Amino acid sequence: MRILGIETSCDETSAAVVLDGRTVESNVIASSRELFAQLGGVIPEEAARKQLECILPVIHQSLEHAHLTMQDIDAVAVTRGPGLLVSLLVGTTVARTLAHIEGKPLISVHHTLGHLSSPWLDCHDDVRFPLLSISASGGHTELWLRRSHTEGLLLGSTHDDAAGEAFDKGAELLGLPYPGGPAIAALALDGDEMRFPFPSPLAHEPGMDFSYSGLKTALRYTIQGLEPSAISNKLKAHPSMPLGASSSQLTADLAASYQYALCRHLVDRLQRAIVLHPEVREIHLVGGVSANIRLRSLVAENAGNRTVRHPLTIPYCTDNAAMIAAAAYFLVSEKGMPSEALPTAATLHHAEIMQ
Ligand code: KG4
Ligand code: ZN
Repeated sequence: MRILGIETSCDETSAAVVLDGRTVESNVIASSRELFAQLGGVIPEEAARKQLECILPVIHQSLEHAHLTMQDIDAVAVTRGPGLLVSLLVGTTVARTLAHIEGKPLISVHHTLGHLSSPWLDCHDDVRFPLLSISASGGHTELWLRRSHTEGLLLGSTHDDAAGEAFDKGAELLGLPYPGGPAIAALALDGDEMRFPFPSPLAHEPGMDFSYSGLKTALRYTIQGLEPSAISNKLKAHPSMPLGASSSQLTADLAASYQYALCRHLVDRLQRAIVLHPEVREIHLVGGVSANIRLRSLVAENAGNRTVRHPLTIPYCTDNAAMIAAAAYFLVSEKGMPSEALPTAATLHHAEIMQ
């Protein structure tokens, strides 16, 4: 089955063609990242305006790259949420219209199920359930026990900020550009991750939930508590100002230590899940934060003899339409073609992720 996927939940506009949930025939992503890097974050109406402009060219390109026409497509899949409401409206309206005009079935996909399906893209190994998936992005942080594509148990989620959001907010405190994850990861390569010991969130609480807002505050206090010789008083008063080139080693050490604390928190929860569910055969790392090299190595160190997978390329880690087309294929394979109309984003709930 060949599915055209459409994803517009945040600042990306993406369309992709995927065969049988695995073979990516095209994956076109138009991003307004540069615009939002200048603005320091995403502005929903601005994102949707850009998406409205480029959605049709992106869909055309995705068909062109795959050397296909709509006649070759068996179904249209679209992210139904969660995400920015106006951005979702652009994607769902176009997908619904296209499916109707072309007489194709429309499959609505929860954004998280898209990320959870991303390790299958261009991967032709025998992936084995049950498995644990950490899905960490700018909008959510979740730990799933998965028995099939559509049977899963949410073991933990964040009480406050998402892991990617903590990278983004931390980067702002360090004067680094948006999105913060890649910027912190690059700087951390030259830093000492043991120099600033940050606390372990929810260390004494049972369960597998996450909490990231305290780490961001700890970074702010660490910057404010630095010696005046290391950091200007101006920066101490306004920690969101850039640290400056003279303190580049200090910034690298802060970035590395902060990154280590963010990653450790994910791995702590994973360790708890492995103790409770030793039967899991694989560990998957998905979502924008799964692009993080340090996180990948920490997870591999803690996985025992289980197979560790993450999406095969960076564009499959961050938001993309190929993962939506893949998830739609697995949904149809396990549950059949949906007959219901597309639900509105506003009515979405966690329980609907596996539908
Ligand atoms: O999945 P995604 O593209 O969008 C959402 O669904 O939110 O994730 C974007 C998030 C951003 O917060 C970004 O800072 C983070 O993923 N990210 C990273 C890295 N690359 C992207 N975080 C840590 N390390 C990275 N290399
Ligand atoms: Zn995402």
